[in-house]
Amino acid sequence: MFPIVEAEFLAPDVKRFVVEAPRVARKRQAGQFVILRLHDRGERIPLTIADSDPDRGTITIIVQGVGKTTKLLNLLGAGDAILDLVGPLGTPSHVEDFGTVVVIGGGLGAAIAYPTAKAMKQAGNHVVAIVGARNKELVILEREIGAISDELLIATDDGSHGRKGFVTDVLRDRMESGGPIDLVLAIGPPRMMQAVAEATRPRGIKTVVSLNSLMVDGTGMCGGCRVLTNGGAKFACVDGPEFDAHEVDFEVLVRRNRTYAKDEADSLKRFLERPEAELAKVRESCRLEERHPEARCEASRS
Ligand code: FES
Repeated sequence: MFPIVEAEFLAPDVKRFVVEAPRVARKRQAGQFVILRLHDRGERIPLTIADSDPDRGTITIIVQGVGKTTKLLNLLGAGDAILDLVGPLGTPSHVEDFGTVVVIGGGLGAAIAYPTAKAMKQAGNHVVAIVGARNKELVILEREIGAISDELLIATDDGSHGRKGFVTDVLRDRMESGGPIDLVLAIGPPRMMQAVAEATRPRGIKTVVSLNSLMVDGTGMCGGCRVLTNGGAKFACVDGPEFDAHEVDFEVLVRRNRTYAKDEADSLKRFLERPEAELAKVRESCRLEERHPEARCEASRS
C-alpha cells in the first residue's frame, strides 16, 4: 500500500499526487513510469513519474481524469492510499549534452516531458520548452517548466494564453527564426506527436516521442503495448516509452489505442453512475492490506 501524502488539482480534471514509494523514488530516472492498481479488482494503468524526492521517499505523478480508473484516482486525496504500485519501469530517457533541445508538452504531455526537460537542463543543454493546451486553464506546470528551461513558449488553441495556435506552429517559428536545434522531444496526443515528427523530418532534426500505448504488465510479457516502427514491432514498456519519431507508425498506434474504446466508454458510464461504490472498493482494499501489513510489497525492477 502506498500512502498519498499530498494531492492537489493543477487544472480541471488534472491532479498532482505525491505518493510514498521510497524504493521507486531512489531508483527512478527521467522518462520512467509506474504501473498502479487502485483495488484488488481494478485495472492496471501506467503513469509517468513526474518527479521524485529520494530523501523524503516520495514520487510525484500527475493524472488526467479521462477514463474510469483515472477519474477514480482523482477522487482520492491525502490520507488515502494506492493499493499496488510497481516501478520504475521503462527505459530511461537518453540524456546527454546535445546542445539545444526543444521539449514539447501538449496537454498532460507537459507533465511527462517535465522530468526529461529537467534532466536535459542538468546535463548542460540549452532547453527550449514549448507547452501547449486547449486554453489557459489547461496549461500545467508553467512555473516548474519555466524554472528549468532557457526559453519557455506557450501555445493555446484559443489564444487565451501565449500564442494562438498549436505547438507545431511555435516549433516552426522557432526552427525558422531561432538558432539551430539538435534534438526535439515531443510528448502529447499521438496526432500532435505525429505532426511534430512531420515538421522536423524535412530538416533532419532528430526527434523523440514518448508513446502512450495500452499497457497491462509493463514488463514485456503481454504484448499489449506493441508499437510498429521501421525497426519492426517493439514493446513500449521495455523498448520505450521513447522512440525515434521518424520511425514510428502513428496510424497503427492510433488504431491500437482505440481497440477498447467501446469497453472503456461503457466502463466509464457505469462508474459515473455510482462513483462512490468504486471509491469504497479502493478504501476497503487498503483497509484489508492495513490489517495485514506483512503483505505489503513495493516491487522494483531495477
Ligand atoms: Fe505488456 Fe508491454 S505492457 S508487453
